[in-house]
Amino acid sequence: MSLQVTDLMVYYRTLAGDVKALDGATFSIADKEIMGLAGESGCGKSTLGNSLIRLDGRMKYIGGKVNLDGAELPIWDNAGMNEFRFREVSVIPQYAMSAMNPTRKIGKMIAELVESRGTQFSEIKDELEKRIDHVGLTQDVVNRYPIELSGGMKQRMVMVISTLFDPSLLIADEITSALDVSTQRAVAETLVSFRDHGYVKSMMVITHDVSILYQIADSILIMYAGKLAEKASTKTIIDQPRHPYTQMLVSSLPEVGVRYADKKLTGIPGSPPSLLVPPTGCRFRARCPLAFAKCVEEPPFVEIEKDHSVACWKVTGPNA
Ligand SMILES: Nc1ncnc2c1ncn2[C@@H]1O[C@H](COP(=O)(O)OP(=O)(O)O)[C@@H](O)[C@H]1O
Ligand code: SF4
Ligand SMILES: [Mg+2]
Repeated sequence: MSLQVTDLMVYYRTLAGDVKALDGATFSIADKEIMGLAGESGCGKSTLGNSLIRLDGRMKYIGGKVNLDGAELPIWDNAGMNEFRFREVSVIPQYAMSAMNPTRKIGKMIAELVESRGTQFSEIKDELEKRIDHVGLTQDVVNRYPIELSGGMKQRMVMVISTLFDPSLLIADEITSALDVSTQRAVAETLVSFRDHGYVKSMMVITHDVSILYQIADSILIMYAGKLAEKASTKTIIDQPRHPYTQMLVSSLPEVGVRYADKKLTGIPGSPPSLLVPPTGCRFRARCPLAFAKCVEEPPFVEIEKDHSVACWKVTGPNA
């Protein structure tokens, strides 16, 4: 097993109080698994992804454990995480493309990066060349500035850089969102090929767009308002979702192969609750067409069959 997350809680400090953005997440990602992480904007996807690599100043570790390949990641300890970052767990952040330093040639930037991790550039040079080939770029890319690359080229370069040390887990946060549809597809295929070549062992692909996950994810984890709603194989999430939120999310998607423009999305009525003062019980209650008396209590995230977990009283409650 690559990743095991147990009851992870991470809040944001604000003047108005703590924003309970990730409020008790328990799940795992197996070796070679590409897990999609989906849910509406603001549900805590980036908070979960970022927690596994770097808590920024406003993020507050409340509790929980993260194990990667059997070793506990000291996620509350910024300095302690240094030996794991990039080598064991790596991230392609949301907005990675614009974060590339515009004043450095790409080759120089890579050299500085690996040297800051105690590795000589010469040690990774051959592998870098191989991977530049692998993603279909030409070797002269290292002599160029980021601004000279198209969005798709930059995105492929970021993928190469973030996986240079063959990390066990790669977190890709909304990396296709800013791209046009055909570039999205190419980037998604490249992610899969990285897994197939062993450049990364397992992956968490974060997106608000479930349709991109059809193509690449082995499993999908659905979040709602800082909590996990459902995790299962991609096929099960698409064909036989059990959580009412997943059902609504999936039925609002265009069928596979149908373009968004051809079919109007129905969306889900209402909006998610505030995470500053989240409602007690099931956080989906106010929007759930199936809500009943029991839902004032919080539903546990329960494995209902092998590799299929759900947090919903309709599915796991006494009258289910
Ligand atoms: N720096 C921050 N300070 C306070 N609240 C934040 C901060 N970053 C995110 N949040 C809040 O945490 C929740 C989860 O955000 P995020 O993890 O970015 O969601 P997602 O990636 O699913 O869109 C949201 O309610 C968001 O407003
Ligand atoms: S626990 Fe209740 S409110 Fe929550 S999703 Fe299930 S039925 Fe709906
Ligand atoms: Mg996000």
